[in-house]
Amino acid sequence: MAAIFDDALKQSIKTTRYNLGAMEEFPESFKHGAWKPIEKERAAGHWVDGFWTGLLWLAYAHTGNAELRSGAEAWTNRLANLKTSRGTHDLGFIFYLSHVLAGRLTGEPAWYDNAIEAAYTLIKRFNPRGEYLQAWDDDGIRKWAGRTNIDLMMNLALLYWASDMTGDAALADIATLHARTSRLALVRGDGSTAHVADFDPDSGLLIRREQYQGYSHDSCWSRGQAWALYGFATCYRHTDIPAFLATAQALADYTIRHLPEDLVPYWDYNSPHLPDTYRDSSAAAVTVCGLLELAGVDNEGASRWVGLAERILISLCENYLIRDSSGPSSILREGARSVPANLMEHGLIYGDYYFMEALTAFTRRDIYQRALVPEIDVRGVSE
Ligand code: GLY
Repeated sequence: MAAIFDDALKQSIKTTRYNLGAMEEFPESFKHGAWKPIEKERAAGHWVDGFWTGLLWLAYAHTGNAELRSGAEAWTNRLANLKTSRGTHDLGFIFYLSHVLAGRLTGEPAWYDNAIEAAYTLIKRFNPRGEYLQAWDDDGIRKWAGRTNIDLMMNLALLYWASDMTGDAALADIATLHARTSRLALVRGDGSTAHVADFDPDSGLLIRREQYQGYSHDSCWSRGQAWALYGFATCYRHTDIPAFLATAQALADYTIRHLPEDLVPYWDYNSPHLPDTYRDSSAAAVTVCGLLELAGVDNEGASRWVGLAERILISLCENYLIRDSSGPSSILREGARSVPANLMEHGLIYGDYYFMEALTAFTRRDIYQRALVPEIDVRGVSE
C-alpha cells in the first residue's frame, strides 16, 4: 500500500502548495474551480479555519519547505484573535490544528499561549446543570442555551491538552463531563449517533434529540458519527474510562455495518434515498482518522481498526482523490457540507485535512506521532 499512499500524499502536498499561492480567505468548499469561504457574519463561521492551517503544518512537516512554514505561521497568526471568541464552540478544531500543531511541529512553545487561552474561553460554554458544552450561538436565545451537538466531541482534545499543559484539572473535568453527557444523550444503543440534543438550560434535563445536518432526529449523519468515533477514542486516551472505549468501539461497529460497497459513506447512513443520494468523502476521511485513534488505544481491536482504516483510505485514493490539479483545487471530491441546506457535491477543507492526517499516519508515523499523539508534549508555556 505504501506506493498508493505516497503518491496520494505527493498529490495532496502539490495541491496544498497551489492553494497557498492563491488563497485569500480561510476556505471551506471547492466547486467550479474556486474555493469558497464560509459565511463569516457569525463567529461560528470560523469553525473551518483550523483545517487550512492543519494542512499547511502537515505539508510543512513532510517537506521542510520554507514557504509552507511561513504560510502556516501567517495563517495561524490570523486566528489568534479568536482565542477570546464566545461565538464559536469550535475553538478546539480551530486552535488544536493551528497553534497546538505549530508548537509541536516547530518545537516553539510560545505558540501554546493562545491555545491555552482558547481552552479557557471554550469552558465558559459549560452548563453545570446539564453538564454539557453549549453548541452554536451565545446570543441569549433559550433554544441555543440548551443545545449541544455531537461535533463538539472533537473540541475536547484541546481541553485535555490544555489541562496537561497547565496542570488545571478543571479543564479535563469539563471535557469528561461533556463526553459523559454526550454519550447518554446522543449515542443510541445500536452504536449510532444523533446530531443534536436539546436540554432545558435551567434544570439541565434532556428534552429531545434533534437533527441539523442529518436526515432526521432518529437517523445517523455520517460525519457526525465520525466526529463521535474520533472524539470518544480521544476521551479514552486521556481518561482510561472504559465506557468511552466501549462507546468508540460501538460507534466503529455501527459504521462498519453501514458502509457502502466502496466504503465511502453517503451523507446519512439512514437516508431513505440510499443509494441514489450524495456521498460525503469528508465523513470517510474523518472515519479513517477516528479508527486510527481508536486503534491507538485499543490493543485488542487495533489490527481490525487499522485494516478497515486502510481499506477506506485506499478507496478515497482510488476513487475520490483529484489527481490532475494544476492549480488551486480541493484534494478530495464529493464532500457534503449539509444536504438539508443543499450544500453538497463539492470539495471540503475538512475532508482534505483529515485525508492528509490519515496519509501521514500511514506514511510517516514519526510526523503523525509528533503532531497528533505525542507521548510527551513540549511542556512549559512561554513567560
Ligand atoms: N461541525 C460541523 C460539520 O461537521 O459540518
